[in-house]
Amino acid sequence: MEKSRAQWGSKIGFILAAAGSAVGLGNIWKFPGRAYEGGGGSFLIIYLLIVILLGIPLMLTELSIGRASEADIVSAFHKLGHRRCAWIGWVGITGAFIITCYYNHVGGWVLRYVFGYILEAPTIYSDSTGYFYAMLGLQPDGTTAFPWAAILFAAVFMTLNAVIIIRGVESGVEKFNKIGMPALFVLLLILLVRAVTLPGSEAGLRYMLSCDWEKVSFSTVLAALGQAFYSLSIGMAIMITYGSYLSKKENIARSTVTICAMDTLVAFLAGFIIVPAVFATVGQEQVGKGGGFAFVSLANVFEQMPGGRFFGIIFYLLLLFAALTSCISLIESIVSFLTERFLLQRKAATIGVCMLMFLIGCMYTCSQAAYPIKGIWFDAANGVTYPAFCDAMEYLTDRLMIPICALGCCIFAGWIWKPESAIAEIRQNRVRFGLAPLYRVLVKYLAPLAILTILIMSFATGMTLS
Ligand code: TRP
Repeated sequence: MEKSRAQWGSKIGFILAAAGSAVGLGNIWKFPGRAYEGGGGSFLIIYLLIVILLGIPLMLTELSIGRASEADIVSAFHKLGHRRCAWIGWVGITGAFIITCYYNHVGGWVLRYVFGYILEAPTIYSDSTGYFYAMLGLQPDGTTAFPWAAILFAAVFMTLNAVIIIRGVESGVEKFNKIGMPALFVLLLILLVRAVTLPGSEAGLRYMLSCDWEKVSFSTVLAALGQAFYSLSIGMAIMITYGSYLSKKENIARSTVTICAMDTLVAFLAGFIIVPAVFATVGQEQVGKGGGFAFVSLANVFEQMPGGRFFGIIFYLLLLFAALTSCISLIESIVSFLTERFLLQRKAATIGVCMLMFLIGCMYTCSQAAYPIKGIWFDAANGVTYPAFCDAMEYLTDRLMIPICALGCCIFAGWIWKPESAIAEIRQNRVRFGLAPLYRVLVKYLAPLAILTILIMSFATGMTLS
């Protein structure tokens, strides 16, 4: 067969690229807060079940749709199914766009912290919450200002992304992943030891290991679902792009399990570092909303460990690279879609899209604390509400677009393209896939029903809008 599309250089290159895309801010910045809000151990169990029963089959589905079609996100559905299925791809690519708008800003905050630890670690230690909010434009005396630091660093972060993408991703990112991923892992292990040996951390550890089912509601399950899909980079049809670059020799079933396992491991590690550290330092009642966790609560861990400042710098550097590899893969898939579909020039498309996303993201950062910019949300129980713009953006992607795109992928693979076609794709090159019957049931019935139920419940009950 004629191969006109690019292909991954090596097997490990693909796995690392996919893992680099999956392991990102979601694992370290979002996961611990969500796990805390969902009652610790109970959230971990729900999350794990979702990864196994929905995450793995869905990633497998996306990869096989991509590899079978060898087409861009939207055309893939058209090519394998019907023109009317193309909306699934559109939802996916729009979701990726919205996520990138704020992702690059949070990446900018991480960059800010790299410099923060290099230049003024004692200031961070003395008031870690204040430092975080000052970056976002809220002064300790309650007055607000334009969050120039956060915005400036976000601009730098976005520029970095654009430069790397224009220069070509493959070599640099692949090389970095090979060192960066294991390094991140080792550092997390070191931090884990420090966090769980901090005086007062047992309560946090106990919290993460015990199940508080009282705290679990549909909202928790939806949060876990959104988080799992977000963290695994699925439900945005991005693994379709990745799959389309994949050689027919690859065993996608095995790669999927490897990627999902790595991603979940990093998320759990982060949870077991950050939650006990919060309990030990700022105290449970002080635990703010999810987002501040990775920035605020680790300060005391670094303060109280030998060479803490050094580890702080390394930690934020690695988080920066994790964010960078994820953000690059997000932008890359948007750009490659635009260039293939609309025949835009790569450089112009990259610059245009990056600038637009950065500007929209400014509203995300500004609405954190500095300005009362509101978004809009609707559910049957509460009617129309006006959460902060930043929250509305995350609801829109995590709670609505990702599940809808994932649902679309399941229905597509289960009922239109048919599981047999996906299974045949997975079995290319005589790969053994013993779990095919289970996969068929999951993708045809269980996954779509589960996602649909959660979507409807979330709309009907109007879960607490935290
Ligand atoms: N998975 C990434 C993270 O955990 C973020 C992300 C969500 C992503 N969807 C994506 C990255 C799609 C690349 C492609 O931070």
